[in-house]
Amino acid sequence: MSNVFTFSIGKKLVMALMGLFLCAFLVVHLGINLALIFSSTTEAFNKAAHFMGTNPVVKAMEIGLFGGIFLHILYAAILTLKNWIARPVGYKIGNNQQTSFFSKYMVHTAVIVAIFLVLHLFDFYVKAKFQHGFVNDVVYDGKTYHDLGTLVLERFKIGWVVVVYVIALLGLGFHLIHGFQSAFQTMGLNHPVYTPIIKAVGYIYSVAVTLGFIAIPVAVYFFK
Ligand code: HEM
Repeated sequence: MSNVFTFSIGKKLVMALMGLFLCAFLVVHLGINLALIFSSTTEAFNKAAHFMGTNPVVKAMEIGLFGGIFLHILYAAILTLKNWIARPVGYKIGNNQQTSFFSKYMVHTAVIVAIFLVLHLFDFYVKAKFQHGFVNDVVYDGKTYHDLGTLVLERFKIGWVVVVYVIALLGLGFHLIHGFQSAFQTMGLNHPVYTPIIKAVGYIYSVAVTLGFIAIPVAVYFFK
């Protein structure tokens, strides 16, 4: 019995740490993507994307990123299945008796984010890395770059793509609101002063990241 318990705690911890790592990735990813709407050309975005795609340190971190996404999803799926099997009637135990709206729908929002991620990777990442015919080249100061920025601008000129992104990004936002503070609880942080602060930071982070990402397809569709 204690084996099953410690096994689960270990998995939850990995899930929490990977989740926080992905939160950090989102900030960097958002920062680079915002260059698309705050700049009148795609040059800054293309140069940043080029750096992220070619710098050896960033490339090594990309392996960690995909590993992190894989482990986060795998362990979340295992834990969810275990919970369902152990508690088929669906009552909740644990230290957060007050089940918030966001925690109740973690699995649903996770599925939305996972589907989004697959579509998103096929939309941009796979085209950038493996299907070069989809991405034109552009030359700045005598150096050749992939014009990924123009690919993104073209995608977000299509109404249904923008709608799908906005819905998926709202799902991501709901997922982050509970996930952020839940990760700290999993790591053992349960404190009368710090826990409310972490919840507030998590809330601000989630709303800012979500609105920041949503602004990109919406701004491109209406203003670019
Ligand atoms: C709505 C705004 C977004 C835009 C314009 C955008 C754009 C892009 C582009 C152009 C790439 C390919 C980069 C390259 O291969 O050099 C990419 C990759 C990626 N995106 Fe996004 N993305 C957005 C939102 C998101 C969100 C919300 C997530 C996570 C939930 C995400 C996760 C990823 C991942 C994991 C990769 C592959 C790793 C990487 O290339 O950095 N993206 N994105």
